Amino acid sequence: MSNSVPLAGKRILLVIAGGIAAYKSLDLIRRLKERGASVRAILTEAGARFVTPLSVQALTGDTVYQDLWSLTDESSMGHIQLSRDADLVVVAPATADLMARMAAGMANDLAATALLATDKPVLMAPAMNVRMWLHPATQDNLARLEARGVRRVGPNDGDMACGEYGPGRMAEPLEIVDAIIGVFTERAGPRPLAGRRALVTSGPTVEAIDPVRYIANRSSGKQGHAIAAALARLGAAVTLVTGPVRLPDPPGCTTVAIESAQQMLDACRAALPADVAVCAAAVADWRVKGAAGHKLKKDGGGPPVLELEENPDILATLSRAESRPALVVGFAAETRDVAAYARAKRLRKGCDWIVANDVGLGTQTFGGDANTVHVIRADAEESWPTMSKDAVAERLARAIADHFTQNESTQGDTR
Ligand code: CTP
Repeated sequence: MSNSVPLAGKRILLVIAGGIAAYKSLDLIRRLKERGASVRAILTEAGARFVTPLSVQALTGDTVYQDLWSLTDESSMGHIQLSRDADLVVVAPATADLMARMAAGMANDLAATALLATDKPVLMAPAMNVRMWLHPATQDNLARLEARGVRRVGPNDGDMACGEYGPGRMAEPLEIVDAIIGVFTERAGPRPLAGRRALVTSGPTVEAIDPVRYIANRSSGKQGHAIAAALARLGAAVTLVTGPVRLPDPPGCTTVAIESAQQMLDACRAALPADVAVCAAAVADWRVKGAAGHKLKKDGGGPPVLELEENPDILATLSRAESRPALVVGFAAETRDVAAYARAKRLRKGCDWIVANDVGLGTQTFGGDANTVHVIRADAEESWPTMSKDAVAERLARAIADHFTQNESTQGDTR
């Protein structure tokens, strides 16, 4: 769970108040940094009795902010900016005293002031003696804070440092990490493709010569699989129809494994209706006519002559199907005049958008992790910078979501 939503690039302001659990906050800093988050810490006066500013500074790799009145702290980063520069404020441990001051809206030290000044979500991990936790004063403060939208993780039941047993132990660092991920996931907002059905083709197709031999191509399926995963992340119900690839099935998708172009077409038809189809597969243009039902033998008569016949064009078929998806996106692999060829291909195939990749010499698009694409629509063309295939997928999925959102608001033709 902890690794499922990346915290990369997230900025967390960690307020460490004065409780024995403060030592766990040092581990929390490590866990967050391991996941790519940046952590800035405010250490209260009481907090500094439990962990040293030096430890916090060494782990965050940043100044430790301690004093509301410090000219140096204020000049480098005022308390307002400190609390606004974060994506999330985490209070761990949240002591009875700090919770009381938060509930009362006090501003008598840097931690309380930053918490009062922030416009960012706040997550607290309470930690205190069980009697203090259960005291009506603390429970009232908790209710007030939660009513204002402050999130909470823990406290857990257990043996306490003071020798008593019950609720009051601070949640473990990994539980706090999960809660932080939960806040970011929740704030990622409604998934714009929820309720939409998407069909994605990916990978090569494999055309039999006989039961043991086949014609195929070098498509890795990386781009198509990344698109299926990105559409699913935005909430679409995705059917991924894929030829043989060395990739795990993307999470959250229904994956249908096929071999030949004909099987791919049948699986695509079975997946209709769909709101959007993205054809990223490298479908073999030809198959062997009358593929042998038994293994071809060297019978002294020389090599067999393979007669080829054309495969169905899945993109063109879907584009002209009676139950045509409202948005059909095709790919084009070009080595020169990328936009011109792609424009012609869009019209020939009858799809709405063409994502044209440059597969010219030196681009290493086939099998590689990066892609340089041009997106050709009827009314607009865009050249995207070279990006990872995952980033191309993310941007394409967002563009698809935006397309539906815009068409919903104008109630117009979805093409
Ligand atoms: N496509 C398909 N079914 C086929 C062939 C292609 O669905 N039998 C789709 C691919 O998934 C892709 C687009 O059509 O979305 C690519 O079209 P294609 O004509 O194969 O273009 P290129 O591979 O670029 O080849 P060429 O330029 O030779 O036409």
